[in-house]
Amino acid sequence: MPNTIGIYIHWPFCRSKCPYCDFYSSAQKCNNEDELIEQYCQDLEYYHSLSDNDQVRSIFFGGGTPSLIKPQNIEKLIDTVTSLWSCSPQIEVSLEANPNSNHPHMFQDLKIAGINRLSLGIQALNDADLKFLGRTHKLSEALHAIEEVTTFFNNHSIDLIYARPNQKIENWQQELKQAVSFGLKHISLYQLTIEENTVFAKKGIKALEENAAAEMYTFTQEYLNTHGYPQYEISNFGQPCLHNCGYWQGEDYIGVGAGAHGRIHIDNKIFATTHPRQLEELTSQERAEELIIMGLRILEGINKKHFSEQCGLNFDSFVNLEKLHTLASQNLIINTTEKIRPTTKGLLVLNKIIEDLCC
Ligand SMILES: C[S@@+](CC[C@H](N)C(=O)[O-])C[C@H]1O[C@@H](n2cnc3c(N)ncnc32)[C@H](O)[C@@H]1O
Ligand code: SF4
Repeated sequence: MPNTIGIYIHWPFCRSKCPYCDFYSSAQKCNNEDELIEQYCQDLEYYHSLSDNDQVRSIFFGGGTPSLIKPQNIEKLIDTVTSLWSCSPQIEVSLEANPNSNHPHMFQDLKIAGINRLSLGIQALNDADLKFLGRTHKLSEALHAIEEVTTFFNNHSIDLIYARPNQKIENWQQELKQAVSFGLKHISLYQLTIEENTVFAKKGIKALEENAAAEMYTFTQEYLNTHGYPQYEISNFGQPCLHNCGYWQGEDYIGVGAGAHGRIHIDNKIFATTHPRQLEELTSQERAEELIIMGLRILEGINKKHFSEQCGLNFDSFVNLEKLHTLASQNLIINTTEKIRPTTKGLLVLNKIIEDLCC
């Protein structure tokens, strides 16, 4: 069986900068798109030379706002990947889109270009909160985009941000019910975090109080688990995104674009890659820590045998066993000889679990 990899393509441009966002992105217009795409293709060729026996199982266009890329350039990038590597017959090709299309027929054009999974950044389902979040779309545009996406694609998702300041649980419950009514395959739900150096942080906007946010999270888990969207990751529900699962399971991936990073095996060593074409070998310790940080985000958890194959260290010897047993007795994790996984209660305090295990 060939080693499978994902390809992440990062587009660092947006129409405007949202006040909560600290992702690598700029509100400047891209004036040399064709030239940049050519560089991306050359970077793909370079990474292919390091991973030519691998099989691609997913491509993910993320951002920034990759729906600003011309569809013919999206097609060019997909064609470059598929002509360089062998690809899985069920390859997942996702793109993150903002609802207000930069041109008519955007979603049809993206489908023709080769995208087969569309993820829409909706963020809120009322105009007042969309405005507060600094989004450039209105609710009517969001609803229209959802309708188009569910018409043109078989695999689709939306992102919503909750635990907004002053948001009441009743309002969130209403939005969640509405989100379920769209008939999407997948829903991503993120608690608003106030990131350093964002406009929200500079304005002194405070995150929702911890207990209120936890109440919303618990409701979200229960509601979605009983309405056709089983939780599989801390913020993700429904039919799993193959590409993102690759990150959480410690699979290799190639990243191109200014804000992209990657993980590639070369001669049984694991390298972290960053733009432009920088490679740094990870130590077993570093690799083990990231496998725990990523692997505990998914409810499936970490397979201990797989873990030791991936980093060369024994799981039970690497972690703090005393703390592991305490976490298990508190019903925050389930620990067996084969696996360790977080409970739904544990997902609420994941940072503490990771800290305890790795210290
Ligand atoms: C790469 S970002 C953006 C994708 C796309 N440009 C958009 O805005 O719709 C992916 C998701 O992260 C979430 N996100 C970004 N910043 C956040 C924050 N500070 N708190 C919570 N969620 C956040 C948003 O839901 C966003 O859709
Ligand atoms: S949330 Fe999306 S659209 Fe807004 S600045 Fe971040 S990447 Fe750009």
